[in-house]
Amino acid sequence: MAGVANPEIWPAYDYPVPLQPDDEARIAELLARMTLEEKIGQLVQADLCCVTPEDVRAYNLGSILVGGNSGPNGNDLSPAPDWLKAADDFYEASVDTTDGGVGVPIVWGTDAVHGHSNIIGATIFPHNIGLGAARDPALIEKIGEVTAKEIRVTGQEWTFAPTVAVPQDFRWGRAYEGYSSDPELVASYVGAMVRGLQGPPSNDNLLAGPYVIASTKHFLADGGTDNGVDQGDSSISEEELRDIHGLPYGPAIAEGVSTVMVSFSSWQGKKMTGNKSLVTGVLKDRMDFGGFVVSDWNAHGQVAGCTNESCPQALTAGIDMYMAPDTWKPIYEDLLARARAGTLPMTRIDDAVTQILRVKGRLGLFEAGKPSDRPYSGEYELLGAPEHREVARDAVRKSLVLLKNSGVLPLAPGGRLLVAGQGADDIARQSGGWTLTWQGTGVDNSHFPGATSIFGGLSQAVEAAGGSAELSPDGSFTTRPDAAVVVFGETPYAEFQGDRAALVLDPELTTPFETIEKLKAQGIPVVAVMITGRPLYVNPALNDADAFVVAWLPGSEGGGIADVLVGDRQGNPRYDFTGRLPAAWPLATLMSDGTLYDYGYGLSYADPISQWAELPEVDASTLAGDSRLWFSAGSPAARWSLLVAGETTGDQTRITTVPAEALGGRARVTAENYLVQEGARRFAIDGGMASVQLRNFEPVDINRETNADILLLVTMKVWDAPDSARIGAIGQDSRGFADFAMPETPDFVRYGISLKCLRSKGADVTSLTQPFVLQTEGAADFAIGEVRLGTDAEVTLPCD
Ligand code: BGC
Ligand code: BGC
Repeated sequence: MAGVANPEIWPAYDYPVPLQPDDEARIAELLARMTLEEKIGQLVQADLCCVTPEDVRAYNLGSILVGGNSGPNGNDLSPAPDWLKAADDFYEASVDTTDGGVGVPIVWGTDAVHGHSNIIGATIFPHNIGLGAARDPALIEKIGEVTAKEIRVTGQEWTFAPTVAVPQDFRWGRAYEGYSSDPELVASYVGAMVRGLQGPPSNDNLLAGPYVIASTKHFLADGGTDNGVDQGDSSISEEELRDIHGLPYGPAIAEGVSTVMVSFSSWQGKKMTGNKSLVTGVLKDRMDFGGFVVSDWNAHGQVAGCTNESCPQALTAGIDMYMAPDTWKPIYEDLLARARAGTLPMTRIDDAVTQILRVKGRLGLFEAGKPSDRPYSGEYELLGAPEHREVARDAVRKSLVLLKNSGVLPLAPGGRLLVAGQGADDIARQSGGWTLTWQGTGVDNSHFPGATSIFGGLSQAVEAAGGSAELSPDGSFTTRPDAAVVVFGETPYAEFQGDRAALVLDPELTTPFETIEKLKAQGIPVVAVMITGRPLYVNPALNDADAFVVAWLPGSEGGGIADVLVGDRQGNPRYDFTGRLPAAWPLATLMSDGTLYDYGYGLSYADPISQWAELPEVDASTLAGDSRLWFSAGSPAARWSLLVAGETTGDQTRITTVPAEALGGRARVTAENYLVQEGARRFAIDGGMASVQLRNFEPVDINRETNADILLLVTMKVWDAPDSARIGAIGQDSRGFADFAMPETPDFVRYGISLKCLRSKGADVTSLTQPFVLQTEGAADFAIGEVRLGTDAEVTLPCD
């Protein structure tokens, strides 16, 4: 049967964590005393966005998390001491027994996926894909240890890591969260990371030492969805599911991983979160996983027959804890009502609570006292400590993969170095998504105290040897350099936002190709350094540059790049290139076009300098197929239309060329410059009601983006403000609008309205025919430069 696994064909393991008799006795004693309400509370995890210590006191919630966009006091950039203070507040609320409850201490989870990456000043390690290039399990264990220690400084106890995805299609925007496309390589790392984070499986009372609990995610085949679609469906066979995506769970279980997070995705059309045969049959029964299973961010709402507010199916399938960020209260009430009505088996509830209490017992939560009293708490000097940064810098050195060297490397340290490319001095960009903010956007170098950019590292290295480095993003110079480094590649992204239709850079990211060409034409040797979460078609840069280095997403220690690129005074390398490709590199824009470099490829200084055979180049400028871009450069996305409409549906004009007239002459549409010549459309309206719309006859489903806190972004300039304006979305039988003050502005401003707001106003986000509508009343004159989905608003509109 499709989507139903046969556990007996899966490998059997033994969960090595011994049951502690005193813990077991305590669990039995607690279970006997807990009310049904308290038990249900343990099964629910709320996000900091939407929960207070008072809620925890009242509902006895089992856990809180901090999602990518949340932080203490509503600020995901809160300073470290605020995190510890919040940890204390939630802990104290959880153990408060004045209402007669048992007071089970709460556990706090965070996405410390490459270091304690939500915290300003923490050590940021390379994302997993770069670590995959390093082929060094001992290094991975050290990274786990450092990460755990830094988490403990701010009072959290649980990281949603490691991601053990085995990405098979790098169009997937989360591919960089996986170590490799090779299941064996991923499997060789998982145990090391779990051990680094949790200590050995025999370890009891983790909080007495420098440890936290880990979570291997996302079970199962998050990296195996068809066409690499995030949260999509994996239509592979059960054998592939087991041998590719299931493999890393063996070592995770052998190391006693405490929690497993279930994937948003589906297998053979069935959502994992509701798949009992996999979650209970395979993971718990066959693989003997003895920790607890947590679902992903409202993923229960995607299970057939469920909503974000109600999903007993997830518990029945084997989920022990619901990640119900903003829906914890309805989920709690729904589970409670069903348990009271007797339609939810008490045995399953008790079993889930038992698993959660076991992990809490092993963690040592019952004895640890409040977070600020525990070892390492408040030792802020441990965040980004020199010895931690040294581990990260070592990881950067080991992750670099050399694809080409015609002899320009190592760079001579004494000369004049030009460092070009927009990414050269940008720590946020070299850190990627899941860094301080969810998408890794909206932060700059000032948010990374103590960190080093790629330029920073290069200039330190050459200056130490008497040379000089000049930063010039566009590659221009006044004094001719001896050599140039051009840093280019991807900009940060995380879930959904990183999905692409082809393995190419977005067109606006390819201008450094011209910089490389220009420098070459002047006879200056060029080293290309690529910041990227995945292998991409970059043949123009490979052809033109004299050397090509893949740096992946190195994180806060950009100095590691200079360590390998810049030689010593004698012209010898100080460190060699040891990184090897963690996944194959494409010959052209799709993997199906063939492979340029196989998995495992990577040169070193010892390799002879080979003759370069020119690679074929194709026009990739339209291939990225960014489905979040609805209107740009004066045109709507392919198959979409730009409309100006009046009060009645008949009164509607499709704008294809400019200048144009609409509404019987009441509105005029012209071109305006924005980013590119005539990149915007300007609308002059004489008066009355008018609306500018983007329409797609194929209804658009933006439900998953809505769930994920994404904004509808509209970049516009206003010469003459209307009397009133509203912004919204329309579906076949639904509409949702919010008021928009729309002030006059001297320049283009990027406004954002949360999709959640439009949904709360009534838009059916699963089926929109006009996903963007701007409605005005009265005379107005404004231009629209861009409409897209994203998170980087300059002004976020309120949702009254
Ligand atoms: C992601 C998880 C993450 C969780 C909490 C989800 O959307 O898929 O990887 O741990 O959010 O932020
Ligand atoms: C949160 C992330 C989460 C995502 C779920 C975002 O709003 O900040 O932590 O992973 O939604 O899709």
